[in-house]
Amino acid sequence: MYENINVLKSEIINKINEAKNIKDLDNIKNNYLSKKGEFSKLMIHMRELPNEEKPNYGKLVNEAKEEILYLINTKLNHLKEIELLNKIELEKIDVTIPGDTLELGTIHPLNQVIEDLEDFFIAQGYEVKDGPEVEKDYYNFEMMNFPKGHPAREMQDTFYVDEESLLRTHTSPVQARVMLENSGSPVKIICPGKTYRRDEDDLTHSHQFMQIEGLVIDENITFANLKDTLLQMVRHIFGEKREIRLRPSYFPFVEPGVEVDVVHTLEDGTKTYIEILGAGMVHPNVLKMGGYDQKKFSGFAFGVGVERIAILKHNVEDIRNFYLNDLKFLKQFKGEIIWKYYNQI
Ligand code: FA5
Repeated sequence: MYENINVLKSEIINKINEAKNIKDLDNIKNNYLSKKGEFSKLMIHMRELPNEEKPNYGKLVNEAKEEILYLINTKLNHLKEIELLNKIELEKIDVTIPGDTLELGTIHPLNQVIEDLEDFFIAQGYEVKDGPEVEKDYYNFEMMNFPKGHPAREMQDTFYVDEESLLRTHTSPVQARVMLENSGSPVKIICPGKTYRRDEDDLTHSHQFMQIEGLVIDENITFANLKDTLLQMVRHIFGEKREIRLRPSYFPFVEPGVEVDVVHTLEDGTKTYIEILGAGMVHPNVLKMGGYDQKKFSGFAFGVGVERIAILKHNVEDIRNFYLNDLKFLKQFKGEIIWKYYNQI
């Protein structure tokens, strides 16, 4: 009977030595040390012993049980330590390994132009406004002093949606919307956005392009204010030395009207001019339709071609490149890294 204690003890010690993880040790505890486990069974045999031997037998069983518990706990601590060391090894960071290069996007060259000009105008107190791309004929043409059937409508070949609606041919309808919204009080806004025309695509024309509209209405606004604003803007974009020219032009919604050209040097060295914007003093009819007292208020407006600015800034041969989504082309215009996204990586 005493032999049974030693047999069981060495059986359990073997199992403890073989245990590979904490779960194996839990199983040993359950099988041998629980109420219904093998050790409890040893105590049942105590009944068969003479009374004087019982204390000694009980003592031996308890000592064996204590020893086993001690061995289990020691092995448990050892396994936990190994587990921790493995975890540390797995999570270890080798700071000497070279970092992975993250491919970062850049701002599209057209959006770079828009963001740059927004900053430029906001710094001068302009507000940035928005307007619909599917526009009413009324705002796009009539409020801009192109009555129905007016020959000047042919200046802007139009995609009509139905008789009343069209894809806006310029950002100027936003002028009309802002005037009506402001009910006769001063205005100082810009509006960047997409525009559409049934133009034949070529090196400098696209059927979809972007403009930035500007409108200032207040007391005592003169042509000198317009000229100064345009010159400052052009100097901001192209620097002090770039050759530019201002020439008279016609738009039904301004009087007088002007256009600005910027010199463009082709690959073979020849110089041409590219028109970047139309502008002028707001026509009295437009002020009147917009709800302004022409005796008190005057204003100027301009519409800048965003692609044309990008062509001239980066010497791009063909406007269509901006819309092909060719990464090789786009990656040339690094601009600013998008730090706000970079910080989220
Ligand atoms: C207009 O669109 C007028 N609304 C501008 C304006 C606003 C005049 C306020 C007076 C007062 P225009 O059609 O010229 O004007 O276009 C303005 C600019 O848009 C052009 O100078 C050019 O830079 C650009 N642009 C015009 N058509 C295209 C096109 N098909 N593709 C690319 N850019 C174009």
